[in-house]
Amino acid sequence: MSLALENEAVPVERVARPRRYLMCRPTYFDVSYEINAWMHADVNVDRELAMRQWESLRAAYLELGNTVEVIEGAPGLPDMVFAANAGTVIGNKVVAARFLRPERTGEEQPYADWFRKHFAEVQIPEYINEGEGDYLWTGSVLLAGSGFRTDPRAHADVAKVLGVRVVSLELVSPSFYHLDTALAVLADDQVAYLPEAFSESSQQTLREMYPDAVIASLADAQWFGLNATSDGRNVVVAAQAEQLQRELLAAGYHPVPVDVSEFRKAGGGIKCCTLELRD
Ligand code: ARG
Repeated sequence: MSLALENEAVPVERVARPRRYLMCRPTYFDVSYEINAWMHADVNVDRELAMRQWESLRAAYLELGNTVEVIEGAPGLPDMVFAANAGTVIGNKVVAARFLRPERTGEEQPYADWFRKHFAEVQIPEYINEGEGDYLWTGSVLLAGSGFRTDPRAHADVAKVLGVRVVSLELVSPSFYHLDTALAVLADDQVAYLPEAFSESSQQTLREMYPDAVIASLADAQWFGLNATSDGRNVVVAAQAEQLQRELLAAGYHPVPVDVSEFRKAGGGIKCCTLELRD
């Protein structure tokens, strides 16, 4: 009798590596303009609730052994809380963001100043790129989104500056306008994503690269379930994305649910509030 091991899906033992994150305090968070499908300027933001949710996200990171740096928000920059958009940091090098929408260009300076204080090499690129909103580093390759915000011409630039391999992915659904709303890096070799957020050819690319990917449902993706962070084992994920949490568990991860529903009003979630500092 042969052992059934070969055929049974034994989840890989997932190992956590604590991270260093940058978060921006949502003191001035609001929805006062509309630059994505989620934003409605007439909606009321409960800023106290937003602050509590943001604090609970920060607490979850600290509890898991991560380090969290905090940058203060600035008046008139209601989206500055979405630190993921501020840049991309790999191996001590920073490629700062250049925002598409004029409503957010005011964030470029305060973030660039912060980066210059903490990192030796800060590049301001030529083309529009919205940082880790569209650039997701897996540990070996940079997945780069385009279609709504980041200019596809920026992909080759960032590859050169950071000295990494880039795989371009095209987003096609207005609800999932940044790559980090449609795909989460779980570990060096695994991602979770929503196939229909990508063009046919990008879906093909993802299937080839990640045959064992976790596939999210539309409902979970709409709760920004894919806007998650992972330390390789612990996945900090939208509390409402329940099916996704079950899938993560089955794939050997430890889901850590956090509710950041107030930020959904601006089209953001957990990952949007988090920039990884890889030094
Ligand atoms: N209101 C912001 C915008 O539309 C949300 C940014 C979300 N950030 C992200 N990394 N997906 O630009």
